[in-house]
Amino acid sequence: MSRNYRIAVIPGDGTGPEVIREGLKVLTAVSDKVGFDLELVPYDIGGERFLKTGETLPPSVLEEMKSVSAIYLGAIGHPEVKPGILEGGILLKIRFELDQYINLRPVKLYPGVWTPLKEKGPEEIDFVVVRENTEGLYVGIGGNFKKGTPDEVAVQLDVNTRKGVERCIRYAYEFAKKRGSPKKKLTLCAKTNVLTYAHDLWVRVFEEVGKEYPDVPRDYSHVDALCMWMVKSPEVFDCIVTNNMFGDIITDLGAMIQGGLGIAAGGNIHPKGVSMFEPIGGSSPKYAGKGMINPLAAIAAGGMMLDFLGEGGAAAAIEEAVKAVTGTKLKSLAAGKMGYTTTEVGDLVVEAL
Ligand code: IPM
Ligand code: MN
Repeated sequence: MSRNYRIAVIPGDGTGPEVIREGLKVLTAVSDKVGFDLELVPYDIGGERFLKTGETLPPSVLEEMKSVSAIYLGAIGHPEVKPGILEGGILLKIRFELDQYINLRPVKLYPGVWTPLKEKGPEEIDFVVVRENTEGLYVGIGGNFKKGTPDEVAVQLDVNTRKGVERCIRYAYEFAKKRGSPKKKLTLCAKTNVLTYAHDLWVRVFEEVGKEYPDVPRDYSHVDALCMWMVKSPEVFDCIVTNNMFGDIITDLGAMIQGGLGIAAGGNIHPKGVSMFEPIGGSSPKYAGKGMINPLAAIAAGGMMLDFLGEGGAAAAIEEAVKAVTGTKLKSLAAGKMGYTTTEVGDLVVEAL
């Protein structure tokens, strides 16, 4: 196996460049230590470029990305660009074009991290959300009729294909099986009591594919109840599989119970293709350039990327180092309250390595 990885790096907007700088610092340190090579290919993509040139993701860049080992992304989103342009033109475009059909989002409370859930600790908050990442309400099919009039109609389709649902659910079963948690279980999060067509498909596929995984117990929760359980009894969850929109929403809730967007990381995965790893927090323009933002989410996303590339040892080393830093150094994970600057937090992780 080649131990040489070509990584497309998109620092992007707002605080993206600052957190990616720290992430790369940690990735470089761990690659030196473990003994593999990272070839970093930077891409100047994001709001600034759009404002200057009108380009979001040039086709040539997209083509180049099809041949890298993985993509490491900071954040996309600019206060001067109308919502939807950069998201659709860059982030969702990459997810769709590279068919990254899974969005994998661990919700794990690290030692020493404050959670708003009283009486819950790292033992209770440790699960993974497998979010479908290429369908649902995100496909952008719809339109307006009689726009701007009192008779306006707005339609936005929720697309669920047998193929898309099945590959997502199958991935989730495989993931739950491999994760091998003592509380091993896969929970389907849907809304079968209202979305009687689309989520009927999800349930049927969940049951059918589940028969191939007799060692992974199945569970079902409506999305609204699941939000309640995530706050009340997060310990009941091991792996959750859900559609794109619900996954987007419940993982922000998940991020809050694991200590905030400063620590929450995710991977946009095509198991056999080019995957993209990112902190899930966004570009936080108000903190940009101030050295206040927490780089741990980007650092953890870098760890997920190494794990995906087959460097499990290096990924585990990063996770241990992050735990050491949250457990013994940082005052808080919130921007500006860490007791350290962005760069210092990166240095602490490297020291802990
Ligand atoms: C996320 C983000 C994106 C999403 C936005 C920026 C399009 O919120 O990665 O969770 O909705 O998927
Ligand atoms: Mn989101």
